[in-house]
Amino acid sequence: MTTKGFIFDLDGVIVDTAKYHFLAWKDLASSLGIPFTEAQNEQLKGVSRVESLNKILTWGNVTMNPEQFSSLMNEKNKAYLTFIDQMTEDEILPGVVHLLDKLLEMGQKIALGSASKNAKLILEKVNLLGYFDCIVDGNHVSKAKPDPEVFLRGASGLGLEATQCVVFEDAVAGIKAANAAQMISIGIGKSEYLYEADLVLVGLDHLSDVLLTHVINASSKNSFKINIK
Ligand code: BG6
Ligand code: MG
Repeated sequence: MTTKGFIFDLDGVIVDTAKYHFLAWKDLASSLGIPFTEAQNEQLKGVSRVESLNKILTWGNVTMNPEQFSSLMNEKNKAYLTFIDQMTEDEILPGVVHLLDKLLEMGQKIALGSASKNAKLILEKVNLLGYFDCIVDGNHVSKAKPDPEVFLRGASGLGLEATQCVVFEDAVAGIKAANAAQMISIGIGKSEYLYEADLVLVGLDHLSDVLLTHVINASSKNSFKINIK
């Protein structure tokens, strides 16, 4: 059996932390008098902390000096971490543990490719850290998704070529990054947003064993796309 590298995004793929990002950003936005909706929160998926605050300030037409900006970033992260601190294994999304166990059993390689600087902490909280051969997060990259840097670093951390890797992502920017890296891209969520992915599933619990075998045996991104049509 061929060995592939399976690179997982964290927020929205392994755990549903988007709701905590939302609550923390919403508090901060309302302290600045900026309205902030769940629809706007959608636009922050996969986006770094700095860029998220930039967007919120732009929506509210608010400007500030770099010191104020950095103190707000810290404030948001502090609020976010109070939610993370309460997280348990119960918050792992359906299908994740089954898939990780299966990949391990099949001798496949596993990496994390996330924009979050809290990624390692979250994996520890939900007891999944031990599955990962390599972790690339917001502390290791200089270019955010849709740039492929995070996934290319993941591939090299696993000792594999980019073309031997598969990415699971819930953000449009993440799918673009995986495609730019020439990796098989599997969107987790709705196809109306994730139509650029090679395959879209509503959740990892929808990845059947047959489909997983197709992924592992695909000789290239193109052949995968053709075979699953
Ligand atoms: C991404 C999330 O995974 O990480 C974004 O989708 C978040 O919403 C980004 O802003 C950065 O996260 P953190 O934990 O470093 O603030
Ligand atoms: Mg995500």
